[in-house]
Amino acid sequence: MHAPRLQDLEPSVQSFLDDVLEGLTEDEKRIPCKYLYDARGSRLFDAICDLPEYYLTRTELAITRDRADDIAAHVGPNAALVEYGSGSSTKTRILLDHLDRPAAYVPVDISRDHLQDAARRIAGAYPGLPVLPVCADFVHPFDLPADLNGAERVVAYFPGSTIGNFGPDEAVGLMAGIAEVVGPGGALLLGVDLFKSADVLVPAYDDAAGVTNDFNTNLLVRINRELGANFDVEAFRHVAEFNEAETRMEMYLVSEREQTVLLDGVEIDFAAGERVHTEYSYKYRREDFAEIAAAAGFSVDTLWTDDRDWFSVQLLVAD
Ligand code: AVJ
Repeated sequence: MHAPRLQDLEPSVQSFLDDVLEGLTEDEKRIPCKYLYDARGSRLFDAICDLPEYYLTRTELAITRDRADDIAAHVGPNAALVEYGSGSSTKTRILLDHLDRPAAYVPVDISRDHLQDAARRIAGAYPGLPVLPVCADFVHPFDLPADLNGAERVVAYFPGSTIGNFGPDEAVGLMAGIAEVVGPGGALLLGVDLFKSADVLVPAYDDAAGVTNDFNTNLLVRINRELGANFDVEAFRHVAEFNEAETRMEMYLVSEREQTVLLDGVEIDFAAGERVHTEYSYKYRREDFAEIAAAAGFSVDTLWTDDRDWFSVQLLVAD
């Protein structure tokens, strides 16, 4: 077994503080959604994936399982699989089980602990496969490991519809960066959640058991712990709305009362009912996503979906 050797670019506490201070001193307050995933946040997200209302994960998993042979055929032999956000790796295993002699697996994740766990698990389960983890915020350019074990093709894997957390322009920028990483003829296999009605979407982001509420408010718990702020977490509540014109779900933390929070010596005032934006989750129509892919230098090679057309797994090829 190849012991996973880590390339470490984990963001510092300082950049977390800078991002939060910048976002909370804007007129329309916001906190970047990438900070939702500390250890507790990652656990809560895993719990969201099991909720009856949250159709995304199980639908993507079913598509991946049902179409695994076809997906593997389109990816081709001897590919290096570079996973953006290493997650819980269930879908990755299905792919690795079906791929023809994968050359290497490169998980890329912002959370070092989560990444190392995922890398160890995969390395243990696939003894012949070089596992080469990279700890990085993948929105910034990073270098692939120099030795990809003779891979014939680099294939980025970006499941979960995480692309939906980026606005259309940011998505183009991120995917153009991925096109550079995989090179001409390389590919991007990704999950894209599709446009659908509010009565399916809203419960998926505001579940009856309140797990999404805990996931969202955990941002404040994390800011208190890591940045020494004094948020009264109980005084904020989770809100999820569907913005149909913009084709996206929007998550906010709403201040239940007028209050002042101290963060790094800065007083931040909240009016009663004031919202802090924490996440967008775009829901694309096929043709709109194909335009984004094209603008980033990709063409849609194949699109797989479920019976209800709720979610898509798409293979894009770099021009
Ligand atoms: C992991 C980004 C795909 O947008 O659906 C789940 C995160 N937010 N519930 C999504 C999330 C609220 C999720 N992604």
